[in-house]
Order: sequence, then structure tokens, then C-alpha cells
Amino acid sequence: MEMNLYARLADQLADQIREGVFRVGDKLPSVRQMAKKQQVSISTVNTAYGVLEDRGWIEARPKSGYYVRKRNEDRLATPTQTRHTPKPRPANTSQLVMEVQRDAAARKGVSMSAAIPALDFPILKQVQRTFAQMARSKTFLGIGYDSPEGVREFRHQIARRAVDAGVFISPECIITTAGCQNAMALCLRVLTQPGDIVAVESPCYYGLLQMIETFGLKALEIPAHPQTGLSLEALQLALEKWPIKVALTVATFSNPIGSLMPDERKAELVKILGRYDIPLIEDDVYGDLYFGDHRPKAVKAFDPDGRVLLCSSLSKTIDPQLRLGWVMPGRYFEAVSHRKFINSIALPTLPQMVMAEVLSQGMYDRHLRQARECYRQRFARLLDLVNEHFPEGTRISRPQGGLVAWFELPRKIDTTQLYHRAHAEGVMLAPGELFSISGQYRHCFRLNYAQGWSPERELAVRKIGQWVREELQSS
Ligand SMILES: Cc1ncc(COP(=O)(O)O)c(C=O)c1O
Repeated sequence: MEMNLYARLADQLADQIREGVFRVGDKLPSVRQMAKKQQVSISTVNTAYGVLEDRGWIEARPKSGYYVRKRNEDRLATPTQTRHTPKPRPANTSQLVMEVQRDAAARKGVSMSAAIPALDFPILKQVQRTFAQMARSKTFLGIGYDSPEGVREFRHQIARRAVDAGVFISPECIITTAGCQNAMALCLRVLTQPGDIVAVESPCYYGLLQMIETFGLKALEIPAHPQTGLSLEALQLALEKWPIKVALTVATFSNPIGSLMPDERKAELVKILGRYDIPLIEDDVYGDLYFGDHRPKAVKAFDPDGRVLLCSSLSKTIDPQLRLGWVMPGRYFEAVSHRKFINSIALPTLPQMVMAEVLSQGMYDRHLRQARECYRQRFARLLDLVNEHFPEGTRISRPQGGLVAWFELPRKIDTTQLYHRAHAEGVMLAPGELFSISGQYRHCFRLNYAQGWSPERELAVRKIGQWVREELQSS
């Protein structure tokens, strides 16, 4: 607990310095004043000031106190937008995907490859307690199968929360799934036949590319802008040229690049797809993890006629262990419901009842507020580290929400090799090769910044920077 306190205080102060509340040369409140103001112990403030000193934010002046130091400015550019001409191709990166997935699951060394949330928030204990209470008090065995649509109370909570994303929906129009990946798979199965073309943004979350491959579909990679996401101009051209069957997007904090499609473009996207009568599978799994001051709308908020199938889950906001997600399939409700029945008949009832209870309470909102602030600060710390330790020519995304950052390195660097080297030294990152089927991102990689910054994690980032430097010098 004490460790969390000083780390949090250090992060908050770093943030205030970044935002100019304290300027270069300003004196920070004395240790005693700060302890009183923050209602923490003197040793907590001492440790927090020590952390800020180590990170180069402040310096101690003998007999005078702590002062804000001049620091290097953020010198890193954002990643470039790909400019390839889209062409439909079968996907084929599964071997490396499984290797990366297994390495992450082994939880050895410093794992920064998986897009998982921080697992040290108090909500996890609360979920665990609610599981224990409800397992004792509710009847969840001896009741046969749940309905294919899922537990009503849980769907009710999802419908209630969808309003924040501009989606007004009845619980009757929602189907629960075993996570977002399962929801997307059900939708793709319903909407496509082998050989069909699916338009995806590029770079694209590799789980989706794998799904496209396994279902015998072809992916058409549409370039995405690092800030605004899927290029509508490129999509329009592709629609004129290819018989696209369905489009798929993570419009709100895409994985891996963290882009956010503005509302006008979300509305425009639905209009364009309407002209070609094409459905859109929207993956909104990161939507609640915004760094700005309000929850961005889902694309589905702009969908008057049910062509958007919105998929999401609790994997990124609470824990992927829950394997609990949902789909709002619009006009494809019956077909998706039937597909879920074919795949798994129904989900277990208990986790849905538990999460309905958790979501109905204020603690979930408190948790989201805490998580968003925490992730925003943790990304800021990553940016500092990368500014300090990565060579010239490194580009890094500025995610507007979510859990991951995307790095673009000079083209000489092969990040699959970097992945193997890092892995051998106990550091896990996600190589860029996974995020495309046309080999475009072999000089890029993705890193999770959501976990708390320990000295070990900071060292891992430092080491990656060092390995990139060495690679550049040797080539
Ligand atoms: C964009 C995106 N969609 C879906 C998933 C999988 O979500 P779930 O664990 O709910 O199946 C991930 C996990 O990394 C993801 O990044």
C-alpha cells in the first residue's frame, strides 16, 4: 500500500510539472508541507521526491529544498501512416502469434507484450468477494442451460452503460459471449463465407487477422492514420475496386496504435458502408479507457439501421480471466444468437450474475476513473523513458486511451529478431510482424504500458532502447 502511495504521488507531481503547474526553477513544497497537504507520511513524500529526482524531474539543493529541473523536451515523432495500395490476401502469421501468446502466458521475466490491464486494482478483490458470496447464496447449478442470449441482469447492465457511448439499446438486443474475440468470431461467421474479403485497418490487432485466416477469408488492409484511425478515403477507393463483404474496425483506441476516429468520421463511415450495403463489426473493447474528458461515442451510435455489430468485453477494463463479453448485433441478432448456440449452447451463469452485481455498483465507475488516470500517467512515464533511452529516428504513438503504445524504428531494425533477443533476456514485446499480413511492420513493435512502473520494468525499457542502438550501430 505504502509503495502505491509514493509511486502515485510521484506520478501526480510529474504530471503537474509536465502541465506547467510547477515550472523549471520552481521550488516544490517542503517534505513536511507536502506530507500535511497530501495526508501521507513524511517518508512517503521523501521516497516520492527521491523517485522524481532519479527520473530527472527535480533536484535537491542543499539546505534549500527540491527544485524543478530543466529536462529534455519530447523529441519523438509519431508513427507514419502507411501508404500501401490495399490488396486482399490470406493471412498467415499464426506460428509467431502462438509463440508470443504462450510466452506472455508463462509470466516469466518482464512481460510487456500482451494487451492486458493492470492487475493490481482493488476491483479484483471485490470481484473475487462477489464470486464467493454469490456462489454461496445463488442457485447456479441444477438449472440447466442458460438462454443463448445470456443472463438478463448482466445484459441490463451492459445496456445501461452503452448510453455513455451514445448507444441506446434494449437488453433484449444484446447477446453475451466468451469475451470480445468470441463475439467477433460469431459475427464474422454469420456475415462471411470462405473466400470473402474483409476490410480491416492497418496495423490491425493480430487476433483479428488470425481469425480471418482460420475462417478462409481474405484481409484487405486499409491504411490507418495514427490519430484518426481507418482512412475513409482509402476505404472508399477499396470499396470501388473490391467486393468487400464486411468491414471491421477498432475505431476507439485501436490496437496497436491507439488512434481515435473523430465522431464526424464515425458517422461518415456508417454512411459510406450504407451506400454499399456492407455491415461493420465494431470492436469497442478499449472504449471505456479514454484519457480525455469524456467517453467517445461508438460507431454504433451513428447507425440508424442496425448494420453495425458492436463487440466488447470486460477483458481490458477488469480482467481477461473473466472471459465475459457481449455483442449488439443489430439486424443480425437472430443469426448471431443461433451461431452462439451452435458454438457453445450458452455461457456459465455464475460469472454473468457476479458481473451484473459488480457493474450495478458505484465501485465499477470509481475503478474506471482510477484506471484511466493511472494509464494516462503510466503512458507519460513510458514516453519519458523512451525520450531518454531510445535512439534518434524512433517514433512512438500518442494513444488517446487504452493499454498499448506502438513504436516505429528505423527500417534497418528487424523487430522479430529484437523480440527473440529480448525474450532470451527475459523481456517480452510484441513484434510488428504480427500486425499485418503484408509484412509492413517488421521495423515496429507494441509495448504494454498499463502495468505499474517498477525499477525492473523501467530497466526493461532502457534495455530495449540499448539493443536498438546496438543494432543500428552494427548495421
Ligand atoms: C482489439 C482487441 N479485440 C479483442 C481482444 C480480445 O478480447 P477478449 O479477451 O475479450 O476476447 C483484444 C485483446 O487483446 C483486442 O486487443
